[in-house]
Amino acid sequence: MKALTLKVFCENSDPNKLSGKQVKYLAIADALRKAIKESHIAPTEALPSARKLAQQLSVNRHTVMAALAELVAQGWVEAKERSGYRVVANLPIQGSRAINKMAKTPQSFDWKFRVKQNCAVTPKVKASEYPYNFSGGQPDIRKFPFDEFKSHFSQTCQRPKIDDLSYGDSRGEAELIEEIARYLRRVRSITEKELMICNGSQEALYMISQLLLQPGDKVAVEQLGYPPAWAAFERTGATLIAIKQDERGIDPEHLAQVFAQGKVKLLYLTPLHQYPTTVSLDISRRMQIYQLAVQYGVAIVEDDYDHEFHYDSQPIAPMAADDPAGLVIYISTFSKLMFGGARIGYVVANNALIEQVAAYKMVMNHKCNVLVQQSVAKWMQQGGFEGHLRRMTRLYQKRRDFMVQQLRSYQEQGLPIHFEVPAGGMAIWLDTGKSIVGLKEKLLAHQVYLQTEVEFCRFKVLPDELTNSLASNSANNLPENLPENIPSHLPKKEYRFIRLGFAAMNEAEVTEGLAIVMKTLYGSDY
Ligand SMILES: Cc1ncc(COP(=O)(O)O)c(C=O)c1O
Repeated sequence: MKALTLKVFCENSDPNKLSGKQVKYLAIADALRKAIKESHIAPTEALPSARKLAQQLSVNRHTVMAALAELVAQGWVEAKERSGYRVVANLPIQGSRAINKMAKTPQSFDWKFRVKQNCAVTPKVKASEYPYNFSGGQPDIRKFPFDEFKSHFSQTCQRPKIDDLSYGDSRGEAELIEEIARYLRRVRSITEKELMICNGSQEALYMISQLLLQPGDKVAVEQLGYPPAWAAFERTGATLIAIKQDERGIDPEHLAQVFAQGKVKLLYLTPLHQYPTTVSLDISRRMQIYQLAVQYGVAIVEDDYDHEFHYDSQPIAPMAADDPAGLVIYISTFSKLMFGGARIGYVVANNALIEQVAAYKMVMNHKCNVLVQQSVAKWMQQGGFEGHLRRMTRLYQKRRDFMVQQLRSYQEQGLPIHFEVPAGGMAIWLDTGKSIVGLKEKLLAHQVYLQTEVEFCRFKVLPDELTNSLASNSANNLPENLPENIPSHLPKKEYRFIRLGFAAMNEAEVTEGLAIVMKTLYGSDY
């Protein structure tokens, strides 16, 4: 046997310099394992005695014995009566040496991805890091009543419901389901449907897509829309078909043509506050669209993502509230009233669908976080949720009005901007009257984050170089003249709109942020 200088293998340390006996024996076991893997001790070869090793390492013999016992337990060495410890016979050391050599120069493993992710849906730029964050659906998280919520959370932990803390019903915590169902009955007139909790509405979108779509299917979507939902649909191999839209929402005639061509399985809509334009789909179009869906057997996914915030009147009831054919899948979220990181959303549909979604969720991740669900349920039961909702609705209405006033004063100064005052939601869709190509990048350099029209377009049909530009979130890289094959909702392929979120910032921040936006857009023209 070669003289084994174990210290050489004690990676960072002399075991004696490590604190605590337990760590010391593990360090010695590690060193021995390394010596075996690198063939300094061969299979079947005897290890030096515990006494020798202890001398060599200047440690207690018991520490070495503990290290050897650890290696026996792991299957590297075996204890032979009277002849001490030996490396086990059947270790594939040659192969392991080759791999060890490889590991010195980290390799890039050739992952055989089934689906390559489209990076456009995982933005590289973090909106929340910008002092002026006009991100459209962003709530003012600084206003969230963390202390109040903390008390519900600690109550939940003080009296845990042990049964619920195990695996179990993937539909979610019964008390939260009951609270949300009661709330939806009252504010959205949704009754007689089943509800289940998801990790945000994105999870619901994903599961619904996986359950209902397959390659070759079509999903009809609004021409400008919410890319994360599109991404979930497209993951299944389904194709998106953009439906034209105007100031009343999507065009039922165009929808009828698309349905008539066949293969449309789903229609994804944001009827209350169209994302991103904020337009409400009017009643007569809703009725036409519903009738078409019944006629062609198409399910509707109704994303009611920010229904809480409607200011001037009661919001129009959702399509799910009047769904005799049972084809509407209603989804919504706590991401606007709480924050996106809460990951609480829900899906409401008839039992036949919810049963399947629940079974799918069981395979995916069992259930959502129980402690959070129970805490939110308590927050709702004890009135905190309603109170926060009322305060935020008042605040966001004031902020909407303030932004409207600011924008009007820019109009009065002669800037060519146009907008409709949104009846609800958290953003204004602003026609800047000029190309927004390159605007985003310039604003980021001035600490302003906002989203421009091009980000809400169907990236699927963009040529590769444009998809890559979007992936790096850099509108600057886009060519000045966008190519013909981008289906534009505008007569000319000129992108002019920006989405200005008004909820997340106070008046001073909005004033300063807007000043930067206008200066960047119009320079010294005003
Ligand atoms: C249109 C739309 N749907 C859904 C969501 C919410 O998704 P989640 O519940 O996954 O946070 C958002 C959030 O930005 C949204 O804008």
